[in-house]
Amino acid sequence: MITSSPSHAATALQDHCAIAQSWQLRDLFARDTQRFQQFSLEAAGLFLDYSKNILTQDTVQLLCGLARAYKVEAQRDAMFRGDKINLTEKRAVLHTALRAPRGTKLVIEGRDVNADVHAVLERVYAFAERVRSGAWLGFTGKTITDVVNIGIGGSDLGPEMACHALRSYAQPTLNLHFVANVDGHDLDAALARLNPETTLFVIASKTFTTAETMLNAGTARNWFLKAGSTADLARHFVAVSTNATAVSAFGIDTANMFPFWDWVGGRYSIWSAIGLPLALAIGAEGFAAFLAGAHAMDEHFRNAPLEQNMPVLLAMVGIWNRNYLGSSSISIAPYHQDLSQFADYLQQLEMESNGKRVTRDGTVLNEATCPAVWGNVGTNGQHAYFQLLHQGTDVIPVDFIAALKPNHALPGHQPALLANCFAQSEALMRGKNADEVRAELQAQSLSETDIAALLPHKIFPGNRPSNTILLERLTPASLGALIALYEHKVFVQGAVWNVNSFDQWGVELGKVLAKRIESELSGDAQPQAHDSSTNGLIAKAKAAL
Ligand code: F6P
Repeated sequence: MITSSPSHAATALQDHCAIAQSWQLRDLFARDTQRFQQFSLEAAGLFLDYSKNILTQDTVQLLCGLARAYKVEAQRDAMFRGDKINLTEKRAVLHTALRAPRGTKLVIEGRDVNADVHAVLERVYAFAERVRSGAWLGFTGKTITDVVNIGIGGSDLGPEMACHALRSYAQPTLNLHFVANVDGHDLDAALARLNPETTLFVIASKTFTTAETMLNAGTARNWFLKAGSTADLARHFVAVSTNATAVSAFGIDTANMFPFWDWVGGRYSIWSAIGLPLALAIGAEGFAAFLAGAHAMDEHFRNAPLEQNMPVLLAMVGIWNRNYLGSSSISIAPYHQDLSQFADYLQQLEMESNGKRVTRDGTVLNEATCPAVWGNVGTNGQHAYFQLLHQGTDVIPVDFIAALKPNHALPGHQPALLANCFAQSEALMRGKNADEVRAELQAQSLSETDIAALLPHKIFPGNRPSNTILLERLTPASLGALIALYEHKVFVQGAVWNVNSFDQWGVELGKVLAKRIESELSGDAQPQAHDSSTNGLIAKAKAAL
């Protein structure tokens, strides 16, 4: 296999794109009855159909050529090996090690990473078992009925999304709550429903310095101390963090702390002790299956050739749509109510990872990087924003995600759900042209004047790309594989865009300014140091507070 330079590979794709822009998906399907078989594949229990994208085998070859030119395979191997690929933070990126089976050898800076990971997992499983079985008692001897995870970003989105996705597998006697926002309405609403005697707080923060989490945790502790004593805190507060000193200073015994490591990025941390709420919900066996599903996708990503590699294909088709066909956002449409938070989860995973404007060596990029990621469950989205997907002026590729078998037994719902899912990708792909609309209106015996007036409104341009990802059923294992699929998609795209997917400096400026404004809001002096808008807004708030 001859690998060309990145610029040669990109030029070849640009030339190819000049031709591809005239293709119509409905013609591509009409010409090739094997298109579905050609552009679909199975891996780690997931099925991906990417045939409804504007591409041919040549496109796939050229896209894989681009991936090779950017040495995606070597970059992937460096990540799995534990090289410090997060250059700005000088850290390894090893979320894959969190789901490697016991005994997988990986030594980083003299530490047996696999042994450390499994030692913490054992503690997480044992603790989850004590709470689930009722053996862990609150300060008045009652069993725990409610668990509140206090965390934000990766310390919230992953556990919350996964607990919701796997609610059919959860222990019904344990209620899980997630509080993230510094807005007191979030915590206030949760506390109003809780009894301190039967509530366990999980304070989840990699750094244990995040302002929102620290404020919420402090308020929760004060709420608890109205009922219990400081000595009772140990039965009601546990921490998940990399920062033992800060956990201790907060008042949580480090015996009740579940550690993880700096080589786990926040948005990649659901596999670590940050997944404690999920382990509490679905138990050790379920959590182990979740890890195993992700590991199966890791093995596929490491070993399959690029042309048959699901994360690589998902990533490269995304790059085709973004950098060559010019789409600026992607919509995520899970046709599964239990995946209602999946788009929010992917927003952080994709946008915080690849929402970057400079290359790894700091050069300003000329090409577009991460598209905006957004979405909601089908069929709800169909009655809200799908109008724009079908007839708006922007072409927005969609990822449809569905499980073939439901986790409920209600008759009639699953065929209706799947019919809608498949109909939407067909409609986006085919569209409806002027001849088809005219024939339809004529069949309704409309006058020529009415037909002329209605016709442009009823045309669907079609040729709008989508992927469909099918799961046999939403289970701990298939959810693990699905998340890992997107993690590796993000990795491949970051490798080709040549950005550091594992830092997040873009969140810092707002944090610093908020600290300053917070002190101005509570102080006596009128703010002077900002622009007139910010000064004015602060003054208005000061007058109201
Ligand atoms: O501000 C962004 C961020 O650092 C995310 O990357 C992270 O997931 C989140 O904040 C929470 O961080 P922590 O777990 O350290 O509280």
